[in-house]
Amino acid sequence: MFFDSGVGGLSVLDETRKQLPQARFIYAADSAGFPYGARQDAEIAARVPALLGRLTERYRPRLIVIACNTASTIALAAVRAALDLPIVGTVPAIKPAAEQSLSRVIGVLGTEATVRQRYVDDLAARYAGDCRVLRHGSATLAGLAEARLRGEAVPPSAFRDAVVPLFEQSGGDSMDIVVNACTHFPLVTPDLMAVIPHRVRFIDGAAGIARRVAYLTRDQQWPDQTGDDIAVFTRWGDSERALTPALKRHGLHHFESI
Ligand code: SIN
Repeated sequence: MFFDSGVGGLSVLDETRKQLPQARFIYAADSAGFPYGARQDAEIAARVPALLGRLTERYRPRLIVIACNTASTIALAAVRAALDLPIVGTVPAIKPAAEQSLSRVIGVLGTEATVRQRYVDDLAARYAGDCRVLRHGSATLAGLAEARLRGEAVPPSAFRDAVVPLFEQSGGDSMDIVVNACTHFPLVTPDLMAVIPHRVRFIDGAAGIARRVAYLTRDQQWPDQTGDDIAVFTRWGDSERALTPALKRHGLHHFESI
């Protein structure tokens, strides 16, 4: 089961399907709680384990991927403590960014909640001690990505306003890698590439998570007959209904609300 505040986790689901084409997936979105990036840490820390507990009782997944950087950096330990099944988190890909950066200046683009987490301080100190690690928490970008998936027109200026504060911190063109520290952002990377002031490479952790899921499920038998993969939403209103064509393009054909 994949879990996110919204549809950002589809970027991780897509990578995992490539590794496990025979697996069945449940995609759970806490649409009633979206956006997590604007919420208080304590609220996420309580909400995510409780919701994943309900979802686990109902759907009995073999494994959960928290496909959300905000939820993972705040609540991963609490979810692991509460549930007796493998839990894979999604945290900013600072380690590969530091391994690949030539300029030793890397950017971390996340939600407001993610970039202020101690978890991110620790990743930067542990893996990127010799890099300048710039951070920007965007209050709007996850919502813009959702709007894009609903098929709405989003002006380039909205994407520019969302990312330019990160580039302003780098003072010139020294930053060469930007970590997409929100699973929504890879869904709009072409929009971001079109508005950024100088070329950078965007990276994220989706491929690594897919490999981890494949490894953890390596001994599992999958059913011969695959049914429809399910998307579950905590609120199913007009906004969510407008996402159904995009969800179908990502292999989700059955919709439920909890
Ligand atoms: C959000 O709900 O604000 C996006 C969460 C994330 O993927 O970090």
